Amino acid sequence: MEATSDYENDTFPLRESRAVKIMLRNIDKVYKTRKSEFTAIENVSIDIQENDFVCMIGPSGCGKSTLLHMLAGLDFPTRGEIIVNDKKVTCPGADRGMVFQTYTLFPWMTVEENIKFGLKQKKMAPVQMDAIADKYLKSIRLTQFRGSYPKELSGGMKQRVAIARALANQPEVLLMDEPFGALDQHTKSNMQLLLREIWQRERPTIVFVTHDIDEAVFLANKIIVMSTHPGRIKEIIPVDMGQDRSLDIKDTPEFIKVRKYINHLLYAGDQEA
Ligand SMILES: Nc1ncnc2c1ncn2[C@@H]1O[C@H](COP(=O)(O)OP(=O)(O)O)[C@@H](O)[C@H]1O
Ligand SMILES: [Mg+2]
Repeated sequence: MEATSDYENDTFPLRESRAVKIMLRNIDKVYKTRKSEFTAIENVSIDIQENDFVCMIGPSGCGKSTLLHMLAGLDFPTRGEIIVNDKKVTCPGADRGMVFQTYTLFPWMTVEENIKFGLKQKKMAPVQMDAIADKYLKSIRLTQFRGSYPKELSGGMKQRVAIARALANQPEVLLMDEPFGALDQHTKSNMQLLLREIWQRERPTIVFVTHDIDEAVFLANKIIVMSTHPGRIKEIIPVDMGQDRSLDIKDTPEFIKVRKYINHLLYAGDQEA
């Protein structure tokens, strides 16, 4: 991804040696109704490298979900191309896992059955499915809830299961649309730590949509800041605060500096208006 940031701090260098995993090329998305046309996204081009943890942040309505749905193959650009793993995205695929903001577990399945869902579709041998389910139940720390149904779980627990379900398929790319948006601050922080931990271990390429600046700075190694009407890329900001991140980094001068900078990018215009 080309660094477009004018953020001046050489403690945030870009490392660009990894292979390009996701390419968006000149993406426009125009919604047409019988009477009018609405340009939701205009001329968005992004390269995302293998193992990147990219957060996309921007005001409500700037097209974050639309972009993510297009990456998932659930929606399509009006113009431009989306390439994942050197292939044009034309439909959903097992190489891309998705976690939504609303809890999307199957209510009639237990936690374990939810996690195994994609594996069953692939007709994986039961012993192998058990091993994968065990691994991810442990990783989301819900082993003792394997037989519970979603209605018996809290919001945070449901999202942990949704993440495990997506990861169980071993997607190379994990697409997450404000997955912690509905959680209380404490649960959210714990989920952020857990996700960083999983990312460090499994190294998927993650595209994570949020409107929470702290969340973006804590999680990402690159932040795509978007503007709205129409949705465009405003700036791409590299974040290099080391790999082992504890919640304490939120109080460091580096963190506060990046947060301030993004806040300025997102809201400076509002103050002038
Ligand atoms: N199916 C649709 N038909 C018409 N307009 C849509 C549709 N989906 C999204 N939009 C519009 O496109 C813009 C971007 O939406 P969205 O991607 O949901 O934004 P975000 O996730 O950043 O809040 C919004 O103005 C929204 O109203
Ligand atoms: Mg959205």
